[in-house]
Amino acid sequence: MEIVILPDAQAVGRAAAARIAAVVRAKPDAVLGLSTGSSPLGAYAALRERVDSGALDLSRASGFALDEYVGLPAGSEQSYAATIAAEVTGPLRMDPARVRVPDGGAHDLEAACADYERAIRDAGGVDVQLLGIGANGHIGFNEPTSSIASRTRIKTLSERTREDNARFFDGDLEAVPLHCITQGLGTILEARRLVLVAQGEAKAAAVAAAVEGPLTAMVPGSVLQLHPAATVLVDEAAAADLRLADYYRWTVANQPSWQRVD
Ligand code: GLP
Repeated sequence: MEIVILPDAQAVGRAAAARIAAVVRAKPDAVLGLSTGSSPLGAYAALRERVDSGALDLSRASGFALDEYVGLPAGSEQSYAATIAAEVTGPLRMDPARVRVPDGGAHDLEAACADYERAIRDAGGVDVQLLGIGANGHIGFNEPTSSIASRTRIKTLSERTREDNARFFDGDLEAVPLHCITQGLGTILEARRLVLVAQGEAKAAAVAAAVEGPLTAMVPGSVLQLHPAATVLVDEAAAADLRLADYYRWTVANQPSWQRVD
């Protein structure tokens, strides 16, 4: 696993964007794995700068979001479909027809999950998956004890996650749905590259558990340890609990030039 400790959240966003841009440079019709929440916003902002300056063209790329709430009213601005449209598809000038989000309003939710898995497969799989991490170690909406082999499915959100996400619902915990659809850990692990971003001290324990703790369903982010091409980009605050921080800094300082991404 590549672990990079950066001075601040902005640098984390820039480094994530550089990695995604490198994938798209090599493959203009790349399939991007998109995530929501606050963690990836810096990456999207840095990608936007590249798109606006003409250095990056995402018009041929496609995208799959990680997850979606179940049961929100159609068109709800808290839906991840609305978030992806506002934060990603529009500003990054991606073709909306090529960007999918699980259908949390589907009449047959199980069929919607199977359909989502099929769509990812038909697109040739995800080339680079951007991930955040929850304070309880979740990735996507795979809460602790999610099967490491899990596929896209319906999950019940934990109280912790609902409390954490209430800020997107004007602080109204009751308004946060109880259920969601999320890509499974097995689905996420099939992406060719994983880029996890984390900022702030609230994520320090989850980052340390995912990177340095045992591989366990109790910390869904620990599945990154199974992936052959996973990068973790953290700011100083999110790196605070890493025991081998000095080693990660040493590794980056001595990185061979052919390995650098910018
Ligand atoms: C949310 C999302 C995840 C996200 C995580 C962290 O509930 N489903 O994809 O990575 O929790 O959220 P944030 O980035 O806002 O801290």
